[in-house]
Amino acid sequence: MAYRWKNTLSSQDVTPEAAFLSRRTLIGAALAGLGLAGAGLPADAESLTPNTWEDITRYNNYYEFGTDKGDPARNARMLTVAPWTVRIDGLVDRPGDYAFDEIMRVMTIEERIYRFRCVEAWSMVVPWNGFELADLLALAGVQPGAKYVAFETVLRADEMPGVRYRVLDWPYVEGLRLDEARHPLTIMATGIYGRDIPAQNGAPLRLVVPWKYGFKSIKSVVRITLTDKEPPTSWNKANAREYGFYSNVNPEVDHPRWSQATERQIGGGLFSPRKPTLMFNGYGDEVAGLYAGMDLVKNF
Ligand code: MTE
Repeated sequence: MAYRWKNTLSSQDVTPEAAFLSRRTLIGAALAGLGLAGAGLPADAESLTPNTWEDITRYNNYYEFGTDKGDPARNARMLTVAPWTVRIDGLVDRPGDYAFDEIMRVMTIEERIYRFRCVEAWSMVVPWNGFELADLLALAGVQPGAKYVAFETVLRADEMPGVRYRVLDWPYVEGLRLDEARHPLTIMATGIYGRDIPAQNGAPLRLVVPWKYGFKSIKSVVRITLTDKEPPTSWNKANAREYGFYSNVNPEVDHPRWSQATERQIGGGLFSPRKPTLMFNGYGDEVAGLYAGMDLVKNF
């Protein structure tokens, strides 16, 4: 990608959205002029219009802070996000507790404007800042026997009012196949619109896998474990019939209780038409090869 961005902004240092967008346009034009596309980015990435800061930070799913869409924005400010460490363990050469600040010092921060599609059939477009998960895994040194990556969200009952309800079996856990985790589209997001990522969106770092339903994009990650077995995942544990391990966005595989053929675009207004859902959320050219020969109905 074109530029490095350091996560040193404070809340007094907010980039007005309009300025941010025009800067993006300039970067996009510069890249086009050089005949370069962003590495690993779909061709139309520059033409996606991101949702507003308000859409992205006030309509959330983060059940540790409550199950209403407005609960995370109200309650997640209780979460202490600094200092923060991520334990990386399992089948790695250099297991240990990695300080978030140290991770940020060595990673290349890029902007990725991605479609984001929730399993509940709503969608947004989010301008994330973050780094490729593959780079973090390389830092820890993945051993040859590793086949999957397991992720865990922080669990703090005193800061997370939602965890007294057993909606899910806490802590929230997720998993990817190693090749999915290493795919260049898979990032750990640390910002939105060039600002530090707000707590309700998963501060200080959360997974983003844009071709999968949003629940795979686990927030506020404190542990990453390389393993040779498919790891358990929170929604699959809660209801295996409704939520599979893969959870690739697929308009042809309906949720047992609703259709996935179309989606409601957040911020589109009351009368905006539903949009057809795209296979792999529009990232098929990049990721379909990961699933060649697989039955995507069985492996939903
Ligand atoms: N991560 C944790 N720890 N807890 C959650 O409840 N919700 C998931 C995912 N990651 C969730 C989570 C779901 S269902 C979605 S759609 C996205 O986060 C929402 O991300 P957003 O609030 O940034 O849009």
